[in-house]
Amino acid sequence: MQTDFLVIGSGIAGLTFALKAAKKYPDQKVTVITKTAADETNTKYAQGGIAGVTDFERDSFDKHIEDTLIAGDGLCNKAVVEIVVKEGVDRIQELIEWGAQFDKEADGDYKLGKEGGHGEFRILHHKDVTGKEIERAMLEAVAAHPNIEIIKHCFVLDLITQHHLGYLVTKSTPDIDCYGVYVLNLKTNEIETILAGTTLLATGGNGQVYRSTTNPNIATGDGVAMVYRAKGRIENMEFIQFHPTALYEPGVRGQSFLITEAVRGDGGILRNKKGEAFMERYDERKDLAPRDIVARAIDSEMKITGTEHVYLDVRHIPLEKFVEHFPNIYEKCKSIGIDVTKDMIPVAPAAHYSCGGIKTNEWARTSIRNLYAAGECASTGLHGANRLASNSLLEAMVFAHRAFLDCTQQRRSVNDFPPVPEWNATGTTDPKEMILITQSLKEVQQVMSDYVGIVRTNVRLQRAQKRLDLLWEETELLYQATTVSPQLCELRNMITASYLIVKGAQFRKESRGLHYNTDYPAKSRLVQNIVL
Ligand code: FAD
Ligand code: SIN
Repeated sequence: MQTDFLVIGSGIAGLTFALKAAKKYPDQKVTVITKTAADETNTKYAQGGIAGVTDFERDSFDKHIEDTLIAGDGLCNKAVVEIVVKEGVDRIQELIEWGAQFDKEADGDYKLGKEGGHGEFRILHHKDVTGKEIERAMLEAVAAHPNIEIIKHCFVLDLITQHHLGYLVTKSTPDIDCYGVYVLNLKTNEIETILAGTTLLATGGNGQVYRSTTNPNIATGDGVAMVYRAKGRIENMEFIQFHPTALYEPGVRGQSFLITEAVRGDGGILRNKKGEAFMERYDERKDLAPRDIVARAIDSEMKITGTEHVYLDVRHIPLEKFVEHFPNIYEKCKSIGIDVTKDMIPVAPAAHYSCGGIKTNEWARTSIRNLYAAGECASTGLHGANRLASNSLLEAMVFAHRAFLDCTQQRRSVNDFPPVPEWNATGTTDPKEMILITQSLKEVQQVMSDYVGIVRTNVRLQRAQKRLDLLWEETELLYQATTVSPQLCELRNMITASYLIVKGAQFRKESRGLHYNTDYPAKSRLVQNIVL
């Protein structure tokens, strides 16, 4: 199959790009691939909202830029921060034009929320289900474009580069080219070749490499792993953001339910087992300090008191106000027997967001020609060592837009590509024991949670590396002998993503932002990105 624009991922980044390409080139083909249902994305689960300056009386670009730089702990690219904050306003307007609805006051002004690290109320939201509303609006807008095809339940296996044409490709090969992708069509179980004039990776994050995460099952770091295999550049993977307040539900495996930071923006208070409001001991911004600080404080309180969670106290917030802003959280709590007027909500940190990823420039270009990346899979320089809350939806739109602008300047035709061979499955047979895959997956999550969590040490990182090396060896043998399946490919990608997180953490000989290593508790004077 051939297409003009190939978009991998149907979250906010992928759909922004697709809508723009489809509108400008109505006679060309835009193909969006997604590995499960169209709306099963990290985007759908976004709660707090999208940060942007809309109230110019109280807020300003400078204030939003300053808050982003402070959260990023010295590692943000200031030029990129300025781009995102300033251009973000137009992108939010486009989102509204595509049909996304954000909550308004009676006078018609937007109701603005506040989250950790923000000095002003500037977060547009749709109750506590902002992402669901964004996905709904964008998928409806997509449906109005006959030239966009969304191929669901289709798993991208690998990027096609010169490597597949029989050339030796290394990190120093100057012009690695992307011609498209190999996919496993889960409806036909066939492996297909898709050639594309332009390819955009919008594959989201990698929270699933941890045992406890707010991310859905799709978040397995596939895009990052594919680029790394293709010898592209990956950056700052050690900066994994743990959200301070995922709902603590003992015995529940997989995706944790998020209690949005906006609850603390509306007055929610973190308390430990003894009922103490402990955040004042850690930071003068208390419960609304940036996430790295709050998550570490909770981790420390849990260790001191020997508990697996702390509490979020919202009992003093008038019920009517709470239910109006957070109906989804209210219902979830009620469904598990928590009465938010009487009970405190048990919460614990969970892996939430990958600040690093595929290294891109200010036009969303990766180090591989003809390949763009936007959204959570990309490392643009916006977040530095710690993402400011609600900046990621904004970043995804700004860089998907920039990727679109850039690729229109240098369109390529698949007719100019060299002949690309079909996927080679010679010598492989169907897997005999799924347990070999499922057990290894659990081991990856365990290793990452136990050794590469909020607080790291050299010894823990070394242990993680050794165990990942073994898992990698075993999984590669399985991969070479077995017909591909999403489970096997996701495991392989998760091991690669984990390896990159550990390597980044080992190279970073300091503590900065989200990366905290007790063997190097201070910040280094050398401010550097770790590129692998
Ligand atoms: P996603 O929305 O994750 O989409 C990824 C897409 O890639 C999916 O369609 C998936 O199927 C596809 N894909 C991946 N691998 C493959 C493959 N191998 N083959 C085919 N398809 C593939 N950010 C904010 O700014 N504000 C918030 O309020 C907020 N709240 C959040 C709450 C939660 C619970 C979570 C998990 C995240 C939140 N975030 C928030 C972060 C934000 O939602 C994400 O960073 C953002 O939505 C990512 O968008 P994306 O387009 O990059 O990727
Ligand atoms: C939240 O609503 O707390 C999540 C916001 C974000 O991750 O940006």
